[in-house]
This record gives sequence, structure tokens and C-alpha cells, in this order.
Amino acid sequence: MTEGEIYTSEYNLIPKTKCYYGYDIADRFCDIIEKYEFDKIFVIAEDTVYKIYGFDIVRALDERNINYFENILEISEQKKKLSTVDYLCNWLISQRVTKDSIIISFGGGLIGNVAGLVASLIYRGIRYIEIPTTFLGMTDSTLSNKQAVNGDNGKNQLGTFYAPLFVWTDLKYVETENKKHFSAALIEGVKNAFIQEMGILDDFRHCFREIDVLNRECLMKLFETITQSKNRILQKDPTEKKYSVVLEYGHTFGHAMEFLSEGGLIHGQAVAIGMCIAAEISLLLGKLSEDEKELHYTILGELGLYSEYNTAQIKKMTPTMIMESIEYDNKRTSKGVRYVILNKLGECDSLDGEWEIPVDKETVTAAIDKAFDRILKC
Ligand SMILES: NC(=O)c1ccc[n+]([C@@H]2O[C@H](COP(=O)([O-])OP(=O)(O)OC[C@H]3O[C@@H](n4cnc5c(N)ncnc54)[C@H](O)[C@@H]3O)[C@@H](O)[C@H]2O)c1
Repeated sequence: MTEGEIYTSEYNLIPKTKCYYGYDIADRFCDIIEKYEFDKIFVIAEDTVYKIYGFDIVRALDERNINYFENILEISEQKKKLSTVDYLCNWLISQRVTKDSIIISFGGGLIGNVAGLVASLIYRGIRYIEIPTTFLGMTDSTLSNKQAVNGDNGKNQLGTFYAPLFVWTDLKYVETENKKHFSAALIEGVKNAFIQEMGILDDFRHCFREIDVLNRECLMKLFETITQSKNRILQKDPTEKKYSVVLEYGHTFGHAMEFLSEGGLIHGQAVAIGMCIAAEISLLLGKLSEDEKELHYTILGELGLYSEYNTAQIKKMTPTMIMESIEYDNKRTSKGVRYVILNKLGECDSLDGEWEIPVDKETVTAAIDKAFDRILKC
């Protein structure tokens, strides 16, 4: 990887979306924006990251004499709500946003989801660009049409499918990201391995030991391996409504726990615990072997599964609380809540062409108990 050089890939979203990526490329994003016609740019940014890197964005826009407006927000899972969307929409309208304007989201997956939902709602949809600043944003949330905010009873309950105009990924931003968040992002990469291609783990598992001293080559390799694996899943189903629901592996439990913890459990870690519960279900259903289930704990253990911040949250939850919260899951249909379950490592189970399958409550409750016990014992 050459510093300052821009690489591209095409994400299998609807419509297909270009991702420009590289290391220390922030000042160049206006080269791409200027290929489009627009009247104004509206930057919606997360305040922590804007204090560190906002200057890059402002300077690049100023140098091109681009007419821009900024809204810098303090955001959290508790504020990932319709009230924030409402506030931003009214701010945009007060600033005379038009159908020709473009929104830029600048921050992690959270601000990306909020800004994406806002963009989809303003005048029934204006263009938006994502500049992710967390590794999870870079490798997961920007490779998705899904934009949503939390409802009063659960995660991501209010949303749309809406893809960005393009994604601008500067891996430099990862340097200041908290290591806890960085390893949580790798968990989504491990998930891609569990659900479709275990082979990719050979490419990046060794990096888990080097997270504190990750060099740029390694970072780029991680980025490319994880995004390409998610992209191959999306290639089979860019709608994210059929086969791609396998990307929700561990998420039904993860979202419930993330919501119950009121932000105490970060997204990736909640998904890690969720995948362990799903693996326990597969074992109870006679699909995964004991060794395959154990590999979940081993690999995810390398990424903070047994950390104090996870165990402290688990201790506050019971299977009953999780079962109740799951009733509000955003994938629920008239058939009730269904689960993404593995047949074996690298392959998901399906029933009548659907990739979420019914599991009785007793089995699910027993699996939550087993996973919690196993994590707390370590
Ligand atoms: N749409 C999707 O398909 C999808 C997929 C995965 C996750 N998500 C959503 O993404 C959210 C989680 O995203 P996230 O993990 O990026 O967390 P986040 O956006 O909450 O950011 C995490 C923290 O990192 C800080 N931060 C961001 N960039 C930084 C940087 N470069 N340096 C220093 N600090 C920085 C932020 O201030 C914040 O405190 C959740 O709300 C989840 O639901 C959506």
C-alpha cells in the first residue's frame, strides 16, 4: 500500500456503490465530489472524531470553494433515535437543503446510520456520502443499504434501505480508534468466516495478536479481506432481504443485549456473545459439533469475549430479559422470531428457502444459559 494512493472497489449494494480507500487520502475526497453536480454540501459529523479530523474535511471543502454547512453532534446509542433524525431534517430544511444537495456523514457506524436515514427521508431521498472513521464503519456498516435508528423497545427498529452515493475510506482514522472498538469490528469479520468462508480466517487471525502494533500493510490486508468477504455475500443477494440475512448471525441476541445494556455493550462484542448463543443452539439441534462450537469461544476469546466490560454486562442480564427483548427484534415476521443458525462452520442452515429458522423457546433459553455460564467461567 502506498500512502496517499487511492484504491477502489465496488460494493454490491442497490445501486452498486464505489468505495475509494487508502491511507491518508482525506484531502482528495473533493476530487470525487466534484464529478457530481450539486448546490450545497451538508456535513453531519460526530463531535469526538470531528475534533480530531474535522480540519481535513473543512480544509478540503474550503480549498475548492464548496458551499457547505456543518452539524456536529454528540451521539450515542441512546440518541440514535427518531428525535435526532427529526432535529437533523429540520436543520437541513432551515438551511435550505434542496434536491440537488449532498449530505456527508463523518464518524462511526452510528452517525452513518443516522445520516443515511436522514438522507433517505429528505424530499424522499437526496444523495449522501459516507466517510467512516471506525473500522466497523469501514468494513461493515458502509457495506450495507440498511439505515436505521433505535425505537423505544429495540435496536434499529425504524429504518430504510438506502445506499450511499459513494464511500470514502481513509484507513488513517483507525490510528486513534479505541482498541476495544477496533477488536469489536474484527468480530464482524469473524462472523463472515463463520457464515460463509472459514478460509478467510487464515488471512487475518494472526493480526489479532498484533492489534496494538498493527502496521499499515496489515491494516489494509484486514480491510480488504473483510470487505471482500462481505461483498461476496452481498453479491448473492444485494437486497439484504434473502440470503444476506445470514449477515445477521448472532445479531438477534446481540441487538437485544446491546439495547438492554443501554450502550454498555458495544455492537461487535454484543454480536460475539450472540454468536456463542447461536452456536450453542446449533449444538443442541445436533448441527454443529462440540469442537465447532468451542472454536467460537476460542476465536472470539482472542477478541475480548471474556473481557471485564462484557462479563459485567452479562451479569446484569437473564435469559428471560433477552427472550422478552427479542420479541421486538426487527427481523420478526408473522411467523415470529427466527434465527440464523449454522449447519457447520462456513455454512448456514436454511428451511424452505429461508435463512432464518424457527427454534423453540426452551432450546433458545438453554443456549443463552450455556453461553453465559461458559463466558462467566473463563
Ligand atoms: N447498517 C448496518 O448494516 C450496520 C452494520 C454494523 C453496525 N451498524 C451500526 O453501527 C453502530 C456502531 O458503529 P461503530 O462501532 O462505528 O460505533 P460508533 O459510531 O458509536 O463509534 C464508536 C466510538 O468511536 C469514536 N470514534 C469514531 N471514530 C473515531 C476515530 N477515528 N478516532 C477516535 N475515536 C473515534 C466515537 O466517538 C464513538 O465514541 C451501531 O449503532 C450499529 O447498529 C450498522
